[in-house]
Amino acid sequence: MKAVNVGLLGVGTVGGGTLEVLRRNADEISARAGRTIRVVKAAVRDVTRARSVSMDGIALTADPFEIVGDPGIDIVVELLGGEDIAKQAVLQAVDNGKHVVTANKALIALHGNTIFEHAQRRGVMVAFEAAVAGGIPIIKSIREGLAANRIEWLAGIINGTSNYILSMMEAEGSDFDGALKQAQALGYAEADPQFDIAGTDAAHKLTILASIAFGIPLQFERVYVQGITAITLTDIIYARELGYRIKPLGLARRTAEGLELRVHPTLIPQPCLLANVDGVMNAILVRADAVGTTLYYGAGAGAEPTASSVVADLVDVVRAITTDPENRVPHLAFQPGLLAAAPMLSIEQIETAYYMRLNVLNRPGVLAAITKIFGDSDISLETVLQKGFPKDSDPESRSRSRPEHGKSNQRVTIIMLTQKTRERNFSVALKKLSQLEAVDDNIVRIRLENLS
Ligand code: HSE
Repeated sequence: MKAVNVGLLGVGTVGGGTLEVLRRNADEISARAGRTIRVVKAAVRDVTRARSVSMDGIALTADPFEIVGDPGIDIVVELLGGEDIAKQAVLQAVDNGKHVVTANKALIALHGNTIFEHAQRRGVMVAFEAAVAGGIPIIKSIREGLAANRIEWLAGIINGTSNYILSMMEAEGSDFDGALKQAQALGYAEADPQFDIAGTDAAHKLTILASIAFGIPLQFERVYVQGITAITLTDIIYARELGYRIKPLGLARRTAEGLELRVHPTLIPQPCLLANVDGVMNAILVRADAVGTTLYYGAGAGAEPTASSVVADLVDVVRAITTDPENRVPHLAFQPGLLAAAPMLSIEQIETAYYMRLNVLNRPGVLAAITKIFGDSDISLETVLQKGFPKDSDPESRSRSRPEHGKSNQRVTIIMLTQKTRERNFSVALKKLSQLEAVDDNIVRIRLENLS
């Protein structure tokens, strides 16, 4: 049977990995796909630059639009990243009747609704397994493997770079910037690593997961996003002492009042498998009504793990080329006309537990005043721990207080875990706490999920 011709947009880390995997496993891949998959053309920024991967037999161009307009190309693999050029190129490819495979989570999260509309009209496929959790086949698992289920919630470590940084801080006492540099050197981080550490990359991925899990359109703007930049080694150590680990978590949950979509650092109990996912590894825990809880674990970034998903999508597209478009797996898991507009909860409406660290004057009655505020706010405390002032705490807060006659000016650190409460309620209590004279106002608050 005639070979399928592929045009590659971008030959960076993932593009290079894709070429390697396609070459190394060529026989097995064509035996699975039923046809030979040939990369015939690639768009690269500099056509003269020497590359670590062989480009033999592949025509090079600096213009991605030359590939999307080439009538000899059946499938376009978009690995440019970013939004603008990638969106134009993908829409043109689709409008030209080409199937598309992409690893671009920003593109799908922000423009997927439009892209899938175009694809539906033209009867082509846009596959995006590599956009979420690198090599883990999570899109296929939720969209196809869990098709019998009503999904209740999913919680995932879906940014390898953030997980790598927090793991290195905990395991080796690395500082934040040093660990980030290592993640960049290993090719895990985005071109702009702010996307990783500020939580945007995870929010793109959560948008996609929520859509296929709950049958809703892609709604990136509804995700609450908080990155890992404020996490300190002090909190990592205290969390561990209390039996938790701090992980960069993406959470999508169906509640009676609406959907929660949030990305933020989270304390997770140490015995939970998710708490033990370290380094660049990703994992997604999915709770569904029929199957119960399932866990998907693997490399969340890197050349060949991501290429594994790109090539799997290529095989899927090649297999589906001969299928009637109406009978293919829908892009967002549910039939396009049946995506529902579900209410979304704001972060103030969600319910969760909290870890809190505050520095207070070591005087009688201070703890009582603090616990009274929680009692008045109907918030139950789970654990209270008092520590001497840590060496690496904010020295400013120490100089802020002046000794009062006859009273101790010594400060101590109090760590508290609360039980589940509504965020709005907790924020009000926190504000009251910070108004107490004996409490420094730099209170650390990290959300905590038991995932049970
Ligand atoms: N920068 C991403 C991460 C790469 O660290 O997870 C995979 O999407």
